[in-house]
Amino acid sequence: MTQADDATPTPSTGEVPSMISMKSVNKHFGDLHVLQEIDLEVPRGQVVIVLGPSGSGKSTLCRTINRLEPIDSGVIAVDGNVLPAEGRALAALRADVGMVFQSFNLFAHKTILENVMLAPVKVRKKSSKDAKTAALGLLERVGIANQADKYPAQLSGGQQQRVAIARALAMNPKVMLFDEPTSALDPEMVNEVLDVMTSLAKDGMTMLVVTHEMGFARKAGDRVLFMADGQIVEDSDPSTFFTAPTSERAKDFLGKILSH
Ligand SMILES: Nc1ncnc2c1ncn2[C@@H]1O[C@H](COP(=O)(O)OP(=O)(O)OP(=O)(O)O)[C@@H](O)[C@H]1O
Ligand SMILES: [Mg+2]
Repeated sequence: MTQADDATPTPSTGEVPSMISMKSVNKHFGDLHVLQEIDLEVPRGQVVIVLGPSGSGKSTLCRTINRLEPIDSGVIAVDGNVLPAEGRALAALRADVGMVFQSFNLFAHKTILENVMLAPVKVRKKSSKDAKTAALGLLERVGIANQADKYPAQLSGGQQQRVAIARALAMNPKVMLFDEPTSALDPEMVNEVLDVMTSLAKDGMTMLVVTHEMGFARKAGDRVLFMADGQIVEDSDPSTFFTAPTSERAKDFLGKILSH
């Protein structure tokens, strides 16, 4: 375990808090009610796949969980800690949530190793030596330790995305959010990224994954959320969702996705 166990509050009642908890969360963009009364409890170690048509609110859901987007009302907590709206407490709690996007967002003028070391040194105030040892371990874990001294542009898209995962892990997050992490990749690079994610899931990481990779969703997912128009329309285990979706929206969505 590389988790920051010492930071986990010990519940006095024996009640274990959810790793991610959202209660009556609402979010608007102007007139658009993009998240509507979202209630979601994700227990520790669960891998949640988020599916839904374009514009249904999947990315916004992810972005609210680490407060990249403010919410209008409701409560979001990570490992029992309610996310404050802003300030230093937010910075600390945000570090509990790692996020990986479709675009890798690596610093172009820093080496792979420097990219992974940066936040632990700057934010966590780790010594450069400790950060380097940890970063090399993480690069090993995602299978690119031999690329440590290269620059992002010298790596393939799949390799860059694995660096982005290592960089997020370097902060010892309790939760990892993935927003279409393989959508920008050439097909032959998709699996190397999904393999890293599968291994993270096996190691017990709590994950929320927006993806169109249905094979991964079935194999690695513990649970599928299907979103439409800012609501969670279905919440079930993957085999139930894929074989017996209940809503017309989900049937329609699956019909389109699986016919490709
Ligand atoms: N910053 C913003 N300002 C205004 N509207 C936004 C903003 N971000 C998202 N939206 C709108 O909110 C809705 C939900 O967007 P979101 O990106 O969460 O959808 P999504 O499910 O991730 O879609 P996709 O599958 O295309 O990525 C969309 O209608 C989108 O246009
Ligand atoms: Mg999106």
